[in-house]
Amino acid sequence: MRSDAVRSIIRAYDDPLVRAYCWGRFGILRQRFLDEIGQYLPEAGPVLDIGCGFGLFSLYYAATAPRRLLHGLDVDRRRIALARRAAGRLGLENVMYEQRDARDFKGDGEFLAAYMLDIVHHIPPESVPPLLRQLSRCLPPGGLLLIKDVDTRPAWKRWFTWALDKAMAPATPVRYWSAEELSAALDDAGFGVRRHVMVDLLPYPHILYVCTRRAST
Ligand SMILES: C[S@@+](CC[C@H](N)C(=O)[O-])C[C@H]1O[C@@H](n2cnc3c(N)ncnc32)[C@H](O)[C@@H]1O
Repeated sequence: MRSDAVRSIIRAYDDPLVRAYCWGRFGILRQRFLDEIGQYLPEAGPVLDIGCGFGLFSLYYAATAPRRLLHGLDVDRRRIALARRAAGRLGLENVMYEQRDARDFKGDGEFLAAYMLDIVHHIPPESVPPLLRQLSRCLPPGGLLLIKDVDTRPAWKRWFTWALDKAMAPATPVRYWSAEELSAALDDAGFGVRRHVMVDLLPYPHILYVCTRRAST
């Protein structure tokens, strides 16, 4: 059933290169990863996807829980247009997309949860702490922020990830955060943090950060 959802989402894009990307992306973050991240999302209510890309994960989490309201934002206009078109083709009315730079996000809106999948290393490092603080503003106490990113260790896995990032987008700078450094930034932004390694067949040093917005003091 859920792999049917994945297949219909991929079929909803008409560009063959985007379809190939989606196969690759769902191949890396397989069903187990989708479930591992999805288990933390509320079954109903607004959820924010920062750096949603073509929208494949927001489409998936919207398709698998019709009472969730997914709001995806990405700086790339074309990706947002493709995400909107795919949502239309799938007949999903519980997902919306906005072309916007995450660095301009001012914590506006109220969400029960938010996630960023492989985004932090694409954002200039000085902009990450302010973004995390804005995210804490749009979540209620106890609200969850999920971050999937890559660790800096072991070094050979970081180099593998770097080579693939550069192959995909040679001109885009990337800056990986160590798990300790990102956890400290999340703590400063008002989140309690648990993290765990997500083991993959490919040597990506994936880490999932499960962050709970602390009550203001
Ligand atoms: C590796 S892709 C991940 C896309 C999606 N989260 C996924 O998992 O398939 C990184 C995405 O981050 C977006 N991005 C990079 N910098 C951004 C920024 N400053 N604001 C919003 N989106 C950004 C890119 O346009 C791209 O779609």
